[in-house]
Amino acid sequence: MLEVIKGFSKLSKTAKIQWLADTHFNNPENAINILKQYWNNNTELQKLHDEFSENTISNYYFPFGVAPNFLINGKIYSIPMAIEESSVVAAAAKTASFWMNKGGFKAEVISTKKIGHVHFIYNGSESKLNAFFEANKNIFYTDVHHIIKNMEARGGGISDIRIKNKTDLEPGYYQLEANFETVDSMGANFINSCLEQFADTLQNQIVLDGSFTKQEKDIQIVMSILSNFTPECIVRSEVSCKVEDLVDGTGLPADEFADKFARAVRIAEKEPYRATTHNKGIMNGVDSVIIATGNDFRAVEAAAHTYASKDGQYTSLSHAEVKDGVFKFWIEMPMAVGTVGGLTGLHPLVKLAMEMLGNPNAEELMMIAATVGLAQNFGALRSLTTTGIQKGHMKMHLLNILNQLEATDAEKVYFVDIFKNKTATHSSVVEEFKKYREDNNYDK
Ligand code: MEV
Repeated sequence: MLEVIKGFSKLSKTAKIQWLADTHFNNPENAINILKQYWNNNTELQKLHDEFSENTISNYYFPFGVAPNFLINGKIYSIPMAIEESSVVAAAAKTASFWMNKGGFKAEVISTKKIGHVHFIYNGSESKLNAFFEANKNIFYTDVHHIIKNMEARGGGISDIRIKNKTDLEPGYYQLEANFETVDSMGANFINSCLEQFADTLQNQIVLDGSFTKQEKDIQIVMSILSNFTPECIVRSEVSCKVEDLVDGTGLPADEFADKFARAVRIAEKEPYRATTHNKGIMNGVDSVIIATGNDFRAVEAAAHTYASKDGQYTSLSHAEVKDGVFKFWIEMPMAVGTVGGLTGLHPLVKLAMEMLGNPNAEELMMIAATVGLAQNFGALRSLTTTGIQKGHMKMHLLNILNQLEATDAEKVYFVDIFKNKTATHSSVVEEFKKYREDNNYDK
């Protein structure tokens, strides 16, 4: 059994690695070599990465790919995507090309409001609390002025603050709810700083107010934090074309394909098991852009899934319609992202990704990420409703299997060719590979 280590964070990087190697691995030297193999030779760059987080001992690589030819609102983008799953980038690129000559994607930002709360407990008269809040609102705004003045200069700030009675959920539970506009920053630090100041102001002002009893003045601030649920920070992206233009070489007549596709979306709208996988496919696209651009994919994920269940049942983030000979497919989802602050100005690859996208502002990035989600969903549904997903997926995954089998470069070329026209499964590749080596008397 492992012994507890005290002061791990205070150890040097080398000492941390040595301790881990000695206590966790059968072959410590091998563990150290693997960790060091991922260090960057550029010590400045390595230091930068080490300082992004804590207890850093190495770097974790993700493939950084590009899906070109995305036509969004009349502008062509090459989209950086950081993702490990085979076939996601290929599917995005294929879908982008498919829609390129059909007018591309039309995207719009519907709203950009973010929300945060001071959660507090107050045992007293609600009307007194509301009257106090209205009378002191200016003080709340004045007290955060030093935090919001730069944001206001950039066009953002706080648009509203209010008290909400939540006592039906928990005795004495109230919220001070605030709405924020954070322009091109994701805004988490800004929002949380404002909320913590609001909590102080609430506590400080209430004790000065003679209308409250001693018990009423004794409020408890439970916590002050932004909400990652952003139902009013919403982006929409859409594609449409005549049904007859929907022929894409999958073998199905266009009208049959359109109907089957729309039915698959309806199933995801109504059936949570399918909705979860459907939305997972959307997030393959969204997350890969969010990660490549240094944004917080956990926040985007959390918001997406809460939004998908906002009406009481988990449902699809995308929708489709076939009407009057026109096929329409669209997505509407929350998206809290930033193009300034956080990693965006620090991580060299993130900066490069931003430049590749033409240095978008936050609204443009919202539209790009949602569009890639929609494209991913289109690609997945096209395969699922026609050839099946495994054909394309396994073609891309083939190299992973061959790498697991330690195939040589020549063997990889040979097997990619062999499986060009037949669906690979893990066992069929392993079987054929073994046979090939036996037949060729391969000796390692
Ligand atoms: C796999 O990562 C994503 C899919 O399962 C999405 C879907 O089923 O729609 C292919």
